[in-house]
Amino acid sequence: MRKVRWFLVVGIALLLANVSGFVGLPKDGSSGSVAQAQETGIESKKIVPFVPTPQEVVEGMLELAQIKKGDVVYDLGSGDGRIVITAAKKYGVKALGFEIDPDLIRESRENIRNEKLENLAEIREQDILTVDLSPASVVTMYLLPSVNLQLRPKVLSQLKPGTRVVSHAFDMGDWKPDKVINVNGRTVYLWVINNKAAQ
Ligand SMILES: C[S@@+](CC[C@H](N)C(=O)[O-])C[C@H]1O[C@@H](n2cnc3c(N)ncnc32)[C@H](O)[C@@H]1O
Repeated sequence: MRKVRWFLVVGIALLLANVSGFVGLPKDGSSGSVAQAQETGIESKKIVPFVPTPQEVVEGMLELAQIKKGDVVYDLGSGDGRIVITAAKKYGVKALGFEIDPDLIRESRENIRNEKLENLAEIREQDILTVDLSPASVVTMYLLPSVNLQLRPKVLSQLKPGTRVVSHAFDMGDWKPDKVINVNGRTVYLWVINNKAAQ
């Protein structure tokens, strides 16, 4: 009987400790190490914070790319999906966004559904450093100078001649852009893939 009482006391104490947060287990029932590993995985892959491109700059980027019927637009790090949505809505082209942040993936997919653009616009959960760029005819990005440089070898080796690469704010090091414009104080760069040997 004394043993049963002892088990009860210890059991209740552990229960209270967990409910009040003293025992460091997540309250969603998952094991701490798995939850932490998942969180760390996302954080370590997220190499650029979410800062949205102002809508007028989005419009300027897509105009600079001279989007035409049949184009396939890839936005690397698609945030809330505004570039993908604008490309699909304004130009009627297929547009894919690649994003790693689960909240932004959810939000951008919801934005696509709200605009009824599911047939043209799509968000894929994928690290931009692993994306096969070859199906794209337009690639847009608002990343960081170091990330642009990381992507540059892939851009040059995978993209077909004629593909337009448009970057908000950041250049590609010593790869000279074909055109640079200013939209409301923001710099936008354009490169057109041509003779790869020359680049
Ligand atoms: C500066 S925001 C640009 C968002 C959007 N393209 C725009 O112009 O409004 C960069 C985005 O890249 C995403 N990102 C960062 N690292 C990533 C990675 N490794 N793979 C995919 N997306 C990533 C961020 O979550 C963020 O949404």
